[in-house]
Amino acid sequence: MASGVPRRRRGPGRAEEAAGGAPGPAPAPLRFPGLILYLAERRLGRSRRAFLTGLARAKGFRVDQAYSPEVTHVVMEGCSAAEASSWLDRVLGPSGAPQRPLLLDISWFTESMGRGEPVPVEGRHCLGVPLATKSQEALETLAEAAGFEESQGRSLSFRRAASVLRALPGPITSMSQLQGLPHFGDHSSRIVQEVLEHGVSREVERVKQSERYQTMKLFTQIFGVGVKTADRWYREGLWTLDDLQGQTRKLSRQQEAGIRHFEDLSTPVWRHEADAIQRIVEEAVWQVLPGATVTMTGGFRRGKLQGHDVDFLITHPVEGQEAGLLPKVMGHLESQGLVRYQHTRNNHYQDTKDLDHMASRNTCMDAYESCFSILWLPKPSPSFYQKSGEGPKEPIRDGKAVRVDLVVAPISQFAFALLGWTGSQHFERELRRFSRAEKKLLLNSHGLYDPEKKESLPATSEEDIFSHLGLQYITPEQRNA
Ligand code: CTP
Ligand code: MN
Ligand code: MN
Repeated sequence: MASGVPRRRRGPGRAEEAAGGAPGPAPAPLRFPGLILYLAERRLGRSRRAFLTGLARAKGFRVDQAYSPEVTHVVMEGCSAAEASSWLDRVLGPSGAPQRPLLLDISWFTESMGRGEPVPVEGRHCLGVPLATKSQEALETLAEAAGFEESQGRSLSFRRAASVLRALPGPITSMSQLQGLPHFGDHSSRIVQEVLEHGVSREVERVKQSERYQTMKLFTQIFGVGVKTADRWYREGLWTLDDLQGQTRKLSRQQEAGIRHFEDLSTPVWRHEADAIQRIVEEAVWQVLPGATVTMTGGFRRGKLQGHDVDFLITHPVEGQEAGLLPKVMGHLESQGLVRYQHTRNNHYQDTKDLDHMASRNTCMDAYESCFSILWLPKPSPSFYQKSGEGPKEPIRDGKAVRVDLVVAPISQFAFALLGWTGSQHFERELRRFSRAEKKLLLNSHGLYDPEKKESLPATSEEDIFSHLGLQYITPEQRNA
């Protein structure tokens, strides 16, 4: 067959084959660029593996004899998902690899040979990470990257598409399932298709490897650094935290604190740490204003086990008592040596950094008294460890810096503030959109306004707000999507 085709070298597959690889039909020209197969010998056995290799090459597939990070599809026979992934872990070594190949059952290979081309990878073929998760991650990466380029519209489209996937009842295994789904434009569909067919999206991989994306991701992770600042630094040739530390005059007080505590702040806050912070905050609040209440909001209220910060909403049953509370609370915490950074304000969003930030999150601004802070959470004292058994050998870290947001609302607006600060951001955005579009009501963290009747609708609980909107109560745990 194909005797007229000149024999050319076509990469490692061919080179190794020449060095004593598979017998069988002569290889055809490569027909599926970007797809690199590796057949794991394990249960397959040597001669069957050699036969299948020859078969696939004759059909224009690239099949490598040796595993390399280039491989996109690993085919295995008679393996459970657990066996497959432990095999891969062993092959990749302790450090792992940034990009894992697809782990596929032999059924995918057989069907592809039958068809003469790679069949779309479906859930039943997969021995590894579900493709739905991979597609979601791919779309979220593109959303993030678009955000770095200040393309808010694009960013939002990718994010919406990702959250549509997340909300699907089952795994997505073929493109036909995307038909009729909202928020799936050409681009998002193309990405999902790539992931379904090849296990990865080339475009997304390229973005992830880029210097630009990696630097922007690092810099915007710093407390007090938004996209604009990160972009400016990047264009000035600053690419690492060390670069920044050598340029301290460029940094605001907030950014300096963000860099100083970078490690702590990029480690997740755990539930028990959030609870410990709550006790510290409550004690300070009660010192200053007995009878005030401190409610944990944000991701922890939605039942998340970890977060990037801890959010609290403070109020007092007597309207007006809460005013001016935060400076006193922060003063009290400061006197205990627990404040690493704080920015308290009566009126939000005076500086452009925050305006940008809020605009990019498309969250309605609110004007509550609030404080963005870094607090110090002391570890239980060393004597505690010594008493409870073997004392640690290495020096004990005496605590951890934690990002804490404090917001004060008068009791009359408490329900709206609670709803607004519980999130998720995506949920808030969609809820506000729904009330505007479907109910002609404007919702934000201060209230619910009817622009036609020019009146505010009162609420003393979140339940009241949902019922104004004609919705059944949605529990915080259900607001994660
Ligand atoms: N929020 C707000 N105004 C801000 C910051 C946050 O209204 N300036 C609201 C957001 O709408 C969000 C909630 O506060 O719903 C919590 O925000 P955040 O702490 O950023 O996110 P979490 O959902 O708590 O997630 P994480 O665990 O990462 O903190
Ligand atoms: Mn939070
Ligand atoms: Mn927060």
